[in-house]
Amino acid sequence: MPSITDVKCILVIGSTAGIGRALALNILALPTKPTVIVAGRRQQRLDEIIKAENKDDRLRAVRFDVNADRATLKKSVDEVVKQYPELDAVMFASGVQQEFDFTKPESVDLDKIAEELNTNYTSVVNMTTFFLPHFIQLSSSGRPSFIYAITSSLSIVSGPWVPCYCASKAALRSFCQSIHVALKDKNVHVVEILPPLVESELHDHQGKREALSKTWMPLDDFTEKTMAGLRSGAAEIPIGQAETYHKQFETGKLEAVAKQYEQRKAAEKGN
Ligand SMILES: NC(=O)c1ccc[n+]([C@@H]2O[C@H](COP(=O)([O-])OP(=O)(O)OC[C@H]3O[C@@H](n4cnc5c(N)ncnc54)[C@H](OP(=O)(O)O)[C@@H]3O)[C@@H](O)[C@H]2O)c1
Repeated sequence: MPSITDVKCILVIGSTAGIGRALALNILALPTKPTVIVAGRRQQRLDEIIKAENKDDRLRAVRFDVNADRATLKKSVDEVVKQYPELDAVMFASGVQQEFDFTKPESVDLDKIAEELNTNYTSVVNMTTFFLPHFIQLSSSGRPSFIYAITSSLSIVSGPWVPCYCASKAALRSFCQSIHVALKDKNVHVVEILPPLVESELHDHQGKREALSKTWMPLDDFTEKTMAGLRSGAAEIPIGQAETYHKQFETGKLEAVAKQYEQRKAAEKGN
């Protein structure tokens, strides 16, 4: 089964911090020696990572804002593909989380909701659309290519304090399942990572670091488990609480999506 060990060049969007940074550096350390391109908005962070980690010139950096307008986003994707024609994988690790209290509707900031949805879902759909012509062409020559997306345990069981975050991750999960099935025959492999609550900077802006640090999964622990999942070639990598929810509510779902797709294609052929 194609897996992370087949990747020759990966762009990790959202790797200036947390989960994306940890996975990017662990992929860089694979014995297969892939090129890893870290990406995010904060140039200073990108510079620091390159300075600290670029030991044998396989680590690159590119400034990337997934909330840029659609034309700018396409230009950024095209530039990466032009500069790295061997690019065979992208990981969407960028994400934000906002708390909203719908019992106090006057406090709900709809601009924040739109930005959260765009960062966590719409931009991923747009970037996937922009990367796919390159991946489909690359994979038609026999090389597998990979799209890695990071959803959440909250994509399966919602957290009412972050209702729109959960909805954005549920949308992304559904999208991943559809394109996983649709792109399989193109040798383009869509892999979904479902973290539980993990040590990162995601909750810092809400002032929740100390409280959450009592229950979150340490980043090293999460990264080790996720890397094992990535090496296994699994289509879905639920970790910790996400694994529990996945077993309880989602077993067999991806297979059902695949079956539904086959039935639809057979019906269309019959017409
Ligand atoms: N930590 C958890 O408990 C948890 C649980 C489930 C799922 N997740 C998901 O895991 C992923 C990584 O989150 P994390 O926990 O590692 O959070 P984090 O430490 O806050 O890192 C978030 C990353 O996303 C990047 N980012 C945010 N907005 C961006 C934008 N507009 N354009 C480009 N990059 C952007 C940030 O880089 P810049 O600020 O430099 O742009 C940063 O590198 C997210 O999708 C998150 O939803 C996290």
